[in-house]
Amino acid sequence: MPKKIVCCLLHFVLFSALRAQPAAPMPAPGALHPPAAKTLRAQPAAPMPSLIEKNGRHELLVDGKPYFLLGGQAHNSSAWPALLPQLWDAAAMIQANTLEVPIYWEQIEPEPGCFDFSLVDTLLAGARYHDLRLVLLWFATWKNGSNHYMPAWMKRDAGRYPNCIGKDGKPADSPSPIADATLQADKKAFAAVMRHLKKTDPGRTVIMVQVENEPGSWGTVRDYSPAAQQRFEQPVPAALLKPDILKALGHAGAGKGSWQQVFGNDADEYFHAWSVASFIGQVAAAGKAGYALPLYVNAALRDPLTHPIASGYESGGPTDNVIPIWKAAAPAIDILSPDIYLDGTEKCLKVLDLYSRGDNPLFVPECGLTPDKIKYIYPTLAHGGIGFSFFGIDGNEEMSAPVASPVARTAPPADRSAPAFERLSAIAKEYGLFAPISSLLAQWAFENSISALVEPDDHSAQTVALPGWEATARFGTGRGDRLRPNEHATGKALFVAWGKNTFLVTGTLCRITFRPTGADSAKAWQYVKVEEGAFADGVFRPRRILNGDETDWGGPAFGATPVWLRISLVTR
Ligand code: DGJ
Repeated sequence: MPKKIVCCLLHFVLFSALRAQPAAPMPAPGALHPPAAKTLRAQPAAPMPSLIEKNGRHELLVDGKPYFLLGGQAHNSSAWPALLPQLWDAAAMIQANTLEVPIYWEQIEPEPGCFDFSLVDTLLAGARYHDLRLVLLWFATWKNGSNHYMPAWMKRDAGRYPNCIGKDGKPADSPSPIADATLQADKKAFAAVMRHLKKTDPGRTVIMVQVENEPGSWGTVRDYSPAAQQRFEQPVPAALLKPDILKALGHAGAGKGSWQQVFGNDADEYFHAWSVASFIGQVAAAGKAGYALPLYVNAALRDPLTHPIASGYESGGPTDNVIPIWKAAAPAIDILSPDIYLDGTEKCLKVLDLYSRGDNPLFVPECGLTPDKIKYIYPTLAHGGIGFSFFGIDGNEEMSAPVASPVARTAPPADRSAPAFERLSAIAKEYGLFAPISSLLAQWAFENSISALVEPDDHSAQTVALPGWEATARFGTGRGDRLRPNEHATGKALFVAWGKNTFLVTGTLCRITFRPTGADSAKAWQYVKVEEGAFADGVFRPRRILNGDETDWGGPAFGATPVWLRISLVTR
């Protein structure tokens, strides 16, 4: 019998034996959700999730319909059956429509060529049961720049699956992107994952897949091994020598030559970006050949305003300065996505600008689960973004213990401490407003009907141009003439152009007012009607008309909980 088959058999015999132990610490994948088998079987075929582009704007289609992804991401070590109830519970609590969840190469391929998809199947069954879509995160060659999710048999064979060598000649904690054996192994495993999804997910529970996680290298700008050095001295590939790409990379007019000759001080980083992107592009292409889901790669960002040097951030990943390299090297990757953990409003808004391009749909797959980050959902929509997600919804540092019973789906998590609960509630308020109309929202974003304002760090009033009008938000609470400033810069306002002189508006911690523009700019104006309401079955249902004190003292006000207002205006 070939060695590989013996290995697989051994693995399954051992794993089944483990599963058969009633007191096993890790319950059998799939066994915790009784409807699993049924939901895996009874899946009518749905259209493939896809991305469309028009006039440089993008839309994600799920079930053939526009879909704005309201996401939450699991902690790194949470995609195990014993931890899943807490995850489903958290996703339901924030009213997410999509859960982003890792799948681990080390678990999926415990022996070379021997694949175990039981955890993937458990996730599929659970998501269907809980009426959620999934984005799977392929934690493989790179996880935050390291090789930590490689299977043990690879970690034990550093000669065949090497790490980068730093400039000092010492191995870095980061896989080498030029290691062909690693590339072939990753391609094979990822292709197997995608083929498995094709077979088991006709209902398209999985709508996108992230290939690797924050790839690149910390601690070294590139691989300085002799093999990498040899490639570094080769001519820069022709695909990068196009005038528009050279210009975008800050090297307009550069001629042919080695990396050093063409890119000078940027050569090390650009070479690494090309090497990492080419590797991941090939992994993605191998997966897509089996099952063509939208694929993306997430970036550990660099400061977009100060342009630090590459040794100060994760080099080689899709940071804003090397997006053109990634686009050229990895065409099978549909989206390069920013993980937003930076602080500062100006920086974060700049990131949204930089990753929103005609050739790149804006998708924020990770954002710190902190109150200051929630406001960026609005400009993401205004940029025509396709989705937004917060990292680590299944507990925070205050919420560490898994639930006592893995089947306690509807019971609250064992340790839902007040700060964690507050953070999830804050997201629930936002997602709760958007979830009933996620399709409409996606369509409005695609059609460029959404505008947004966010409170800057100096809390100053902000103005945005709307069709025929401009809107101004002043941030704070209370009457317009006695506005109390917000303690933190968390205020925001969102405007949907909804017919002539009519806007659908929401926001938090601000007061808004309007002014006619264009030919009507000198005219007086007033509110025709300000209706507060909610959406049911895609239709706006007013519950009251705001007037008097609710509109007179500096315009309609939003408190801590966003609501929808339909505002119609007239000039006189
Ligand atoms: C970004 C990574 O992509 C996540 O997997 C996680 O490690 C967070 N950083 C921080 O915890």
